[in-house]
Amino acid sequence: MKHVLKAYNNKNLNLANRVVMAPMTRSRADNPKNKPMEGLHDVYYAQRASAGLIITEGSQVSKEAVGYINTAGIHTQAQIDGWKKVVNKVHAEGGKIFIQLWHVGRISHPDFHNGKLPLAPSALNPNADVYTPEGPKKTVIPKEMTQEDIDNTINDFKQAAKNAIEAGFDGIEIHSSNGYLFHQFFNATSNKRTDKYGGSIENRARFFFEVLDAIKKVIPSSKIGARFNPSLHGLFGMEMDEQTIPTFEYIINKLNDYDLAYIHLSEPFTDVSNVPYAVKHIAKHFRPMYKGTLMINGGFNQEKAHKVIEEGNADLVSFGKLYVSNPDLVERFSADSELAEWDNDTFYTTGKEGYTDYPKLKELQDA
Ligand SMILES: Cc1cc2nc3c(=O)[nH]c(=O)nc-3n(C[C@H](O)[C@H](O)[C@H](O)COP(=O)(O)O)c2cc1C
Repeated sequence: MKHVLKAYNNKNLNLANRVVMAPMTRSRADNPKNKPMEGLHDVYYAQRASAGLIITEGSQVSKEAVGYINTAGIHTQAQIDGWKKVVNKVHAEGGKIFIQLWHVGRISHPDFHNGKLPLAPSALNPNADVYTPEGPKKTVIPKEMTQEDIDNTINDFKQAAKNAIEAGFDGIEIHSSNGYLFHQFFNATSNKRTDKYGGSIENRARFFFEVLDAIKKVIPSSKIGARFNPSLHGLFGMEMDEQTIPTFEYIINKLNDYDLAYIHLSEPFTDVSNVPYAVKHIAKHFRPMYKGTLMINGGFNQEKAHKVIEEGNADLVSFGKLYVSNPDLVERFSADSELAEWDNDTFYTTGKEGYTDYPKLKELQDA
């Protein structure tokens, strides 16, 4: 049996296999309350419940945390109740599910905030594209967060983690990846602060650890995961410099003291062979530094996933796009059967099309 299909058991995680559904924004919460929708979100995630673990789409922890249309939140009772239905369905199918807690920081637009500026560590425009209710726009110069903004955001994450447990989730993943708020604090190119949140590596990592410590007060660390994309360069306004990798090394080393459910790393999203500061092989580089469960992501198929686990460079592998179009990815892996292609055009549209209508192998055979 391929390693990726084998069960994974330790004191924090008991998973039927090592195939994880990666978090993916699908923009299906097109209702005024931005809550997960019955007959849609619950069906979508339940279809994918044979994954060892599902990580939901990024879910905003507050109104300020939003930067995309129709994304689901986890900060109101209606949203919690919506997620309850999702979790119950996934559990009924024997699955496990974490929710990804999200704050986009400067990858947003005043149109989402009644004209107010999006929040960020520093007033630096990422020059990225945002899709607002009125269509595509360019990002603006964000507001440098005050201590009050930072304290409020820490509280929002803490409350969101509590809400996640109320909704029945098996755990939460902090979205400290992909150029969003935490990543903006980590990188010296997006964080020019002169207070205790900027300057040194320790200072740039401080906000993340303050959030983690706050969350730990309300849920056990064994139910907390954190996601990082250390070699992200040239996307979502992120630029690496010589301090970027040492910053992630500091963070990941420090996380050894936290006994988390897992850390979730991504291989570089773009070709970084000519970027002098970038680490080209993320799993290989960070595995020796981290003693807990390491999940890796980015361009994997079954063969590559088997190999990375066999070589000892990761414990779990998460799959994104393959999970869009193969709800029964685990069954397809075990049968070594053909995989369905995903349709980029329906990643972020509304309704069932390209969302809950990808058939399982069995349904195709029965048809
Ligand atoms: C449609 C889509 C939405 C995504 N949304 C998120 C998200 O909400 N949070 C996140 O951490 N990553 C998000 N990602 C990144 C994926 O989790 C994953 O890192 C990426 O697709 C690479 O993995 P893959 O090669 O297996 O697809 C998204 C990717 C796609 C394709």
